[in-house]
Amino acid sequence: MTRSEKVGQLVQLDGSHGYPPDYLGERLRAGGLGSVINNANPDIVKELQRIAVEESRLGIPLLIGRDVIHGFRHVLPIPLGQAATWNPELVLAGARVAAEEAARAGINWTFAPMMDVTRDPRWGRVAECLGEDPHLASELAAAMVRGFQTDDPSAPTAIAACAKHFAGYGGVDAGRDYDTTNLPRNELRNVHLRPFRAAVEAGALSLMTSFSEIDGMPCTASRFLLRQVLRDEWGFEGLVVSDWDSVRQLSIHGLTADDREAAREACEAGVDIEMQGEAYAHHLEELIESGQIAEALLDAAVSNVLRVKCLLGLFERPFVDNDTLPAPDPVRMRATARETARQSLVLLKNHDNLLPLDRGRLKNVALLGPLADAPYQQLGTWIFDGDASLSVTLRQALGEQLGDDIELSYLRVFEHSRSRDTRDMAAACELAAHADVVVLGLGEESILSGEAHSRADIDLPGAQRELVHAVRAAGKPVVGVILAGRPLTLSNVINDFDALLYAWHPGIEAGPAITEVLLGDVSPSGKLPITFPSVVGQVPIYYNHKMTGKPPLPGQVAHIDSLHTRAPQTSLGMSAYHLDAGHRPQFPFGFGLSYGQFHYHDLQLDRHALSVGETLGITVRVTNHGAQAGDEVAQLYVRDLVGNVTRPVRELKGFERVSIGVGETVTVHFELHSEDLGFYDRNDEWRVEPGAFQLWVGGDSDADLESGFYLHPAA
Ligand code: GLC
Repeated sequence: MTRSEKVGQLVQLDGSHGYPPDYLGERLRAGGLGSVINNANPDIVKELQRIAVEESRLGIPLLIGRDVIHGFRHVLPIPLGQAATWNPELVLAGARVAAEEAARAGINWTFAPMMDVTRDPRWGRVAECLGEDPHLASELAAAMVRGFQTDDPSAPTAIAACAKHFAGYGGVDAGRDYDTTNLPRNELRNVHLRPFRAAVEAGALSLMTSFSEIDGMPCTASRFLLRQVLRDEWGFEGLVVSDWDSVRQLSIHGLTADDREAAREACEAGVDIEMQGEAYAHHLEELIESGQIAEALLDAAVSNVLRVKCLLGLFERPFVDNDTLPAPDPVRMRATARETARQSLVLLKNHDNLLPLDRGRLKNVALLGPLADAPYQQLGTWIFDGDASLSVTLRQALGEQLGDDIELSYLRVFEHSRSRDTRDMAAACELAAHADVVVLGLGEESILSGEAHSRADIDLPGAQRELVHAVRAAGKPVVGVILAGRPLTLSNVINDFDALLYAWHPGIEAGPAITEVLLGDVSPSGKLPITFPSVVGQVPIYYNHKMTGKPPLPGQVAHIDSLHTRAPQTSLGMSAYHLDAGHRPQFPFGFGLSYGQFHYHDLQLDRHALSVGETLGITVRVTNHGAQAGDEVAQLYVRDLVGNVTRPVRELKGFERVSIGVGETVTVHFELHSEDLGFYDRNDEWRVEPGAFQLWVGGDSDADLESGFYLHPAA
């Protein structure tokens, strides 16, 4: 390969509106391009690939990249909603469906899964992450990698996964996208890096650097992340791609003075492919000729790229041959979208067991709100190729399922979720007054979530809160169904709902899945993958927090409305809480109600002392005392009481979704290996440290069925 051809393999350009195909054609014939992004037109993709393979000197096939984040045409729930299923097998199936559709368009590389751990629902990209917990995110990220790539990345419908954004992007200040992160190395190691390691161990063929910086070093130029952690410690052999133009952004960050310096920093740090920026194309050759960069670095980067192309089988099969691919199965794709949407729904409130609705007692249902019949909005963010014509809305599905005997009165009330035009409010209240039950389809349009769409106020947008209050005043039972790309703060409306179902942005099958739960055909089984703050001032608030030296203790949390004006300074419980919000969230991580009533009992450990290197067996029995069968996600939490560094008050270490019939008791088994208790210590070294541990098992992170064990040094 000439040096120019080597550099060409490290260049990725926009394959759609960014450059006219004939311009790309010239670059391809000259061997100056190794990958294109953002074109899913099968004919254009095929022509670009043909030029690369047939008209360039070396005929090296292209990587064709696309953001296939939660489905291709058949859009599934947003990743945060998929995380609420706590179901790795289902998440894998969803990635498979997406890969099959995308591969038919010629896509061979997706920029997913995104596994940035975040505790900040203000951040727009919380929609595409897998929640606040490193264990849950690790399990689901690994499942997505396997779904995209299968165990044979060269298979015709396998596409390369891309673990992103490496790393710590979820920690941006104030949830402002692209902003600085202030992550201590110990938290970076013990929280944010864990899902990426799981993705690498699952075989992810690529990683993407984050736009953000850590401790003064932009990730796109971080040798610590890209060489020490990724290559030296984890032995990663895939390729690293920068995020969009983030190589040249090194000069905007102020790390470098110009594109030439940026190219040098990124290449030396270990960025293999520059996504859409051309600093590499314009400067790498000269940097090598002038001795600023060793040719060996260039060769190593090119080797990573060619290795991935080989593993994808692109040299043997550069073109997708739809005739040899299994015929697309829209029924199966839609069924996967439906099942994922079903299991993603989280029942947050069900006062007096209002849900499921009893068809036999209904004559008129009022369905009100801007998200009840919004086929595009229900798809959520990151749906480049999503097809809203495939959507079935709540209005459509509910109308169909209620049939002719029950009248469904519908009013959108607001043109969109941000509207403050209350002209239809009176009409809405009129419909509510004449209904047996009111269902409110509320939440966020998709444009309010996703990249660059952070919000400082995460209440229901627009005048939706006023609608809730007004409908409540009509005096009929009120069911809230919220479609949103983030946890919203609900303390100012929660009391007005008799029941509340959180649907995230559930994809094309939003309507049928929600209707099945509202009418009791399916019991809700989703569990929160992220804590819900009661007010935004609590953020960040998360379950796996540290104890601190002054934790809030029962009876020590005063409330601002109950203070004595002359209360002595030290009388308010000198501990970690807010006077006007306490220390408890609106809803905790792992929470979700069911139509079953699950009782955890008979927690047994096969021993209460084990040595490093051994495995602890844990069993618990779960009985359904409810009136309906349902799935329950049993969760195992552990606390390391004393550590070389402070350890969280609880950490998720296992979970299992089980189906339990009425009156049935099931036994759930967990295995906890001593390695699962390991962490990075004060010297940035991994350790499994003997000592005392508590453990809890239950249906959310407040689980109170408790036991404990002692870990001894290796025998
Ligand atoms: C965007 C995103 C990244 C995405 C890439 C390509 O800016 O940060 O997640 O994969 O550019 O669209």
